[in-house]
Amino acid sequence: MEPKLVSHSTTVVTDLVLPGETNPLNNLFGGELLARMDRAASIAARRHSRRVCVTASVNHVAFNRPIPLGSVVTLEAKISRAFKSSMEVYIDVWIEDRESGIKNRANEAIYTFVAVDETGHPVEVPGIITETILEKERYEAALRRKQLSLVLAGKMNPSDATELKALFK
Ligand SMILES: CC(C)(COP(=O)(O)OP(=O)(O)OC[C@H]1O[C@@H](n2cnc3c(N)ncnc32)[C@H](O)[C@@H]1OP(=O)(O)O)[C@@H](O)C(=O)NCCC(=O)NCCS
Repeated sequence: MEPKLVSHSTTVVTDLVLPGETNPLNNLFGGELLARMDRAASIAARRHSRRVCVTASVNHVAFNRPIPLGSVVTLEAKISRAFKSSMEVYIDVWIEDRESGIKNRANEAIYTFVAVDETGHPVEVPGIITETILEKERYEAALRRKQLSLVLAGKMNPSDATELKALFK
């Protein structure tokens, strides 16, 4: 399978925060943002693999800034690393300032998707080609995150998590 550029999977979704999607402080409800990120990430995974993709894990979410009612929110999802059947997807969330139009980074998340066949069994995906410094950094760190996720899920013995252990040496 031919590897693909990270940019090939880039998925940008811009939407408003409406009443009914907020918490009592009139900021976007966390679960609503998780759902929006999941949708954008699943499209990125599908664009990379051209397969049905399911969410295997939410590896990291940082709600760094509240997103007020009425905000214009942009989500950018792209594959940061492809393994055998799994793909790590990085999602950056931006809020657009109404007057200046400048976008400020508000939140980020990292999801893992797995490409599956019609019966739900994992299938191989193409590799990834990084271009920018940020893409290379995220690619390098992705194996550690995969090992941490597998250890926490009880699917990997900590003693086998060599990349992860190297962090503590
Ligand atoms: C995700 C799923 C397909 C994995 O199936 P599985 O039988 O565990 O398959 P495997 O153990 O071979 O794992 C497949 C890949 O997923 C990765 N994976 C599985 N669980 C993971 C986790 N918690 N974190 C990171 N990666 C994970 C494995 O490392 C493997 O990656 P690789 O092929 O790139 O090396 C299966 O668990 C599933 O269908 N889950 C439900 C998905 C779903 O419905 N999501 C929507 C939320 S309700």
